[in-house]
Amino acid sequence: RKGGFTHYMLKEIYEQPQSFYETIRAGISERVRKMVMEADEITLVACGTSYHTALIFKYLAESLCSIPVRVEMGSEFKYFTPPLRGLVIAVSQSGETADTIAALKMAKARNCPTLAITNMQGSTVTRIADQTLLMRAGPEISVAATKSYIAQLAALMEIINVRCEGAFDDVLSHAHLAIEDVLLQEIKEAVDLCAKAEHIFFVGRGPFYPVSMEGALKMKEISYVHAEGYAAGELKHGPFALLTSETPVVAICTPCPTYGVMASNIKEMKARRAPIIAIGVFGDTELAEIVDIFIPIPKTHLLVQVLTASVVLQLLAYHTACALQRDVDKPRNLAKSVTVE
Ligand code: F6R
Repeated sequence: RKGGFTHYMLKEIYEQPQSFYETIRAGISERVRKMVMEADEITLVACGTSYHTALIFKYLAESLCSIPVRVEMGSEFKYFTPPLRGLVIAVSQSGETADTIAALKMAKARNCPTLAITNMQGSTVTRIADQTLLMRAGPEISVAATKSYIAQLAALMEIINVRCEGAFDDVLSHAHLAIEDVLLQEIKEAVDLCAKAEHIFFVGRGPFYPVSMEGALKMKEISYVHAEGYAAGELKHGPFALLTSETPVVAICTPCPTYGVMASNIKEMKARRAPIIAIGVFGDTELAEIVDIFIPIPKTHLLVQVLTASVVLQLLAYHTACALQRDVDKPRNLAKSVTVE
């Protein structure tokens, strides 16, 4: 059933080009399209990995289509419900996460239009929300979310594309090819470094900040190595005190408006002796020269960089967990779906 793969997680990582492609191909129904076009503000509620895709959406949607977006954790929302206006989107792979369901119910009670983005047809969120946008990841067996994360991003990027009148049609219809390329990326040196570490920082700016949070979550979840996702510019406001030659920093530094400032953050971290694993684009020799390990991803549109950088971080967590002989598909203390608050 694992189709020749050692773990479901690796199989599911490899299914991501298809997961992204199928979700884009399925498109968005007229009713969801109308809902998205009519919204003058969007609030997303989610937990865990789904919370990270929601944060990525916030950065991308606010900068690419100027719509105000707020993101709330399901577990916080219920007890400290913010004033709500506009469309409320619940993002949940399983559609059964108790905290996300509770938040969605609060939004309904306040008469907001509601949309569920989920991988599970007929799940609880689809029965509560006014409309559903189904991700096409297929069943995800491994506890760690991978192909559902990519499918969520596909669905959320489709929403951005709708708001931008199809400006990203071409980018989105070819993105799966870049995801395919990155699956073959060699990362052994980085894995060896992470497997020896007790603490790892993951840093990025803009949408790469939540991508880093997701990279850290995957690392913690399956390898049990302590990892923190941080906004690169915030490290100097405290966490610098933790940097030593034994604390690797995984930094995402690709061509985008924050490239220059990100590169100077990397130099500051190097000056504190932290070994740097940088994810940059092919051909960026300048960056490759200042870091310890350089992992290249294809030079593509920002939307696609978000996907490919995420896949590299999933592979890093996966191979680190394997090197440490962890139970990758069933990490300790965790369940696939958290149905209690
Ligand atoms: C991490 C992971 C969890 C889920 C979270 C929400 O790999 O899988 O953090 O993302 O429990 O689950 P859903 O998306 O089903 O609501």
